[in-house]
Amino acid sequence: MNRLYQRAKISLAVTLFVLLLSGPVCLQAKDQKAEEKDISSIISSLTLEEKAQLLIGTGMYFPIPDSLRQNIPPIFGMGQSEESDYSRMVDKVRLYLPGAAGFTAEFPEKGITSQVLADGPAGLRISPVRAGDDNTYYSTAFPIATVLASSWDTELVEQVGRAMGKEVLEYGADVILGPGMNLQRDPLCGRNFEYYSEDPLVTGKMAAAMVQGIQSNGVGTSIKHFAVNNQETMRMSANVIVSERALRELYLKGFEIAVKEGKPWTVMSSYNKINGPYASESHDLLTKILRNDWGFKGYVMTDWGGGSNVVAQMKAGNDVIMPGSSSQIKELIAAVENGELEESVLDRNIERVLKIMKKTPRYKGYTYGDPELKAHAEVTRQAATDGMVLLKNDHNALPFSSPVKKVATFGATSLDIISGGTGSGDVNEAYTISLFDGLLNNGLTPDPELAGVYEEYIKAEQAKNKQPANLLAAFMGGKEPVAEMAVSAELAEKMADKNDVALITIGRNAGEGGDRKAVPGDFYLTDTEKEMIRTVSAAFHEKGKHAVVILNIAGVIETASWRNLPDAILCAWQPGQEAGNSIVDILTGVVNPSGKLAVTFPFSYDDTPTSEYFPGSQVKQEGEADDAPDLSGFSFMSRVPWEVVYGEDIYVGYRYYTTYEIPVAYEFGYGKSYTTFEYSNLKLTGKEFDGKLEVSLKVINTGKVAGREVVQVYVSAPSGKLNKPEQELVAFGKTKRLKPGAGETLKFLISTDELASFDEATSSWIAEAGEYTLKVGASVLDIREKATFTIKDPMTAGKVTKALAPTREFDKLTGK
Ligand code: BGC
Repeated sequence: MNRLYQRAKISLAVTLFVLLLSGPVCLQAKDQKAEEKDISSIISSLTLEEKAQLLIGTGMYFPIPDSLRQNIPPIFGMGQSEESDYSRMVDKVRLYLPGAAGFTAEFPEKGITSQVLADGPAGLRISPVRAGDDNTYYSTAFPIATVLASSWDTELVEQVGRAMGKEVLEYGADVILGPGMNLQRDPLCGRNFEYYSEDPLVTGKMAAAMVQGIQSNGVGTSIKHFAVNNQETMRMSANVIVSERALRELYLKGFEIAVKEGKPWTVMSSYNKINGPYASESHDLLTKILRNDWGFKGYVMTDWGGGSNVVAQMKAGNDVIMPGSSSQIKELIAAVENGELEESVLDRNIERVLKIMKKTPRYKGYTYGDPELKAHAEVTRQAATDGMVLLKNDHNALPFSSPVKKVATFGATSLDIISGGTGSGDVNEAYTISLFDGLLNNGLTPDPELAGVYEEYIKAEQAKNKQPANLLAAFMGGKEPVAEMAVSAELAEKMADKNDVALITIGRNAGEGGDRKAVPGDFYLTDTEKEMIRTVSAAFHEKGKHAVVILNIAGVIETASWRNLPDAILCAWQPGQEAGNSIVDILTGVVNPSGKLAVTFPFSYDDTPTSEYFPGSQVKQEGEADDAPDLSGFSFMSRVPWEVVYGEDIYVGYRYYTTYEIPVAYEFGYGKSYTTFEYSNLKLTGKEFDGKLEVSLKVINTGKVAGREVVQVYVSAPSGKLNKPEQELVAFGKTKRLKPGAGETLKFLISTDELASFDEATSSWIAEAGEYTLKVGASVLDIREKATFTIKDPMTAGKVTKALAPTREFDKLTGK
């Protein structure tokens, strides 16, 4: 009896325990079922017309300067002409957030709210002023993605994301169109500033952190531009010919990491074609890879005006067309009516859109509050310092020692500093702190006479009203730095007499709608710029004083031919709206630089592995004249048949330079500090790899000031069936701020995923058998500790769907 009672008690306890455990699961499942039912009943309440209206955005709508209006090609459905319920709804939703890039339709009586989609990667891009409204709506211009990646600090990036997402939330957007995360394949891509790195692991980890930070506010992200959008030249029609291996290992890898780890609400497909079809019309890309292989659950939107066939886009799994036009709505309706498109495809896509809608603040009726711009100015100031890279520091030029008080600021961008790049990634911030003001704000004295000379010069240059090199940039309010002023020996000497140090700023801008050029004034310095550095450095050296160059640039430039002239070089990139304050924090040593390059600085453009192929060429039809297409003006929207062959294959960035032993000016992962670090005690959990490997390493600050160190873990794999780059990054980390003498043990977990290469023959990831060398370094060339481990039998890290294979053979680099 007692035993029976005992058993009954146990089984009751077990039942209760199981119920308790499964309770939330049951509830969750119930909630999910209820939501699905709700969504499916919403869908069944929609007419075909409403379905089409929901999947096609409500059109492009932003203020266009009159001077440029007649130049705009009629690509976007600007304004709906007929008076109808739909056009009244469109007029209404567009007012939800002036300056937002796109809106989805709303049908309130059916429980559907609009989704407001606004750019862009470096902060929320909206109109800062509104007609008849005295309030302002500025957003914070955060450091560009390249700066954030150079911090190698995912926690920092997440923090920036949290701040950015707060502004997205409080200003009333539902999804921010970022982060941008294409690979920096070639230094000339005009949009590199929106992207993180030449390495997919850095790219993926940064993007995942950014997505998590932004989305922690209950708003969405749209990782973009999916995929292989590595140039602006003929971006609307370029067909990228690329191997499956390079796709999987490089161009898709970052997106894969971001999708799996960051879980973005949406993805933006890119303008270009990949091995044939447009990205937005590629079922292989958007369904087989994105959803089936990676498990993406949100919706995909086109880039603005991307692709050419809405029916193909719907079928491929490109759920939403942006910005949308009335003719596209008609096309969709007609396709269903004439049987070309199953209505169920629309229903599937709508279901994805509605699932995200239910998470949006607008749907939830959120009461918008304070975007907290003041607090975010602090976030951006610090984030920028963490991503600046000290390239050179001879004679202890930096940080400034105590006698340094008076500073001569040469270079037009010292006054007119560039906070971020141009195009949709340009933020409308309330202010930008120039280098001049940054010095003033922080107790130093910039030379007023020199500033006066530059002010006059900049005014005169700007009055020349030159035709902008990048029309889109001009159209969207971006600025091009003026050509540099020639500095006479006399002026330099006068300044050296009365100042303690010289700062020389070199400025470059770039952005959407155009690629950069390998010419003086862009990738190279002009003679005037080099002369300025030479003359100023000489004058200050003559007086026993230092000259420091500050690079205020959107992407990689040539440095080797002039870097011996100044004492120090700080790569400040485009550091966001607190630019001047952030730079001065580094110059004065308030912050010890800890950024390292996430992209290589080659000796010359011709040294880059992609220079032979970038930006591709026109595909001529038979009998077509041999004239080169016009790449100026609005060519970024034209669709000249174009092809880019990725002949460098997997040898992009440091993978190429280290394999082919090409010397570079500053290698991937390079960056100096005001202190020094010692690496020791490298430990691996085993000599034989069994699917996981734990690596630990001690870093000690051996210098005189506190600082942080970025540590990189590379692996050199044995050659087997597949050719391998000399080494590849498999993990990275950053110490906390270490006081002199203090140390920290960093730990890294390496799994088969990081070691595997993509085998096209079997569409699987394989880690081949043999001896692997693990290298821990301060850069890709500055390896401090090494260890080996072996893989006894080949291992696989998963099979994926065969997809996106090139349709023809082409020559590829195969390594050495
Ligand atoms: C850009 C996207 C941007 C969109 C909306 C396009 O031209 O390529 O990055 O999000 O416009 O502004």
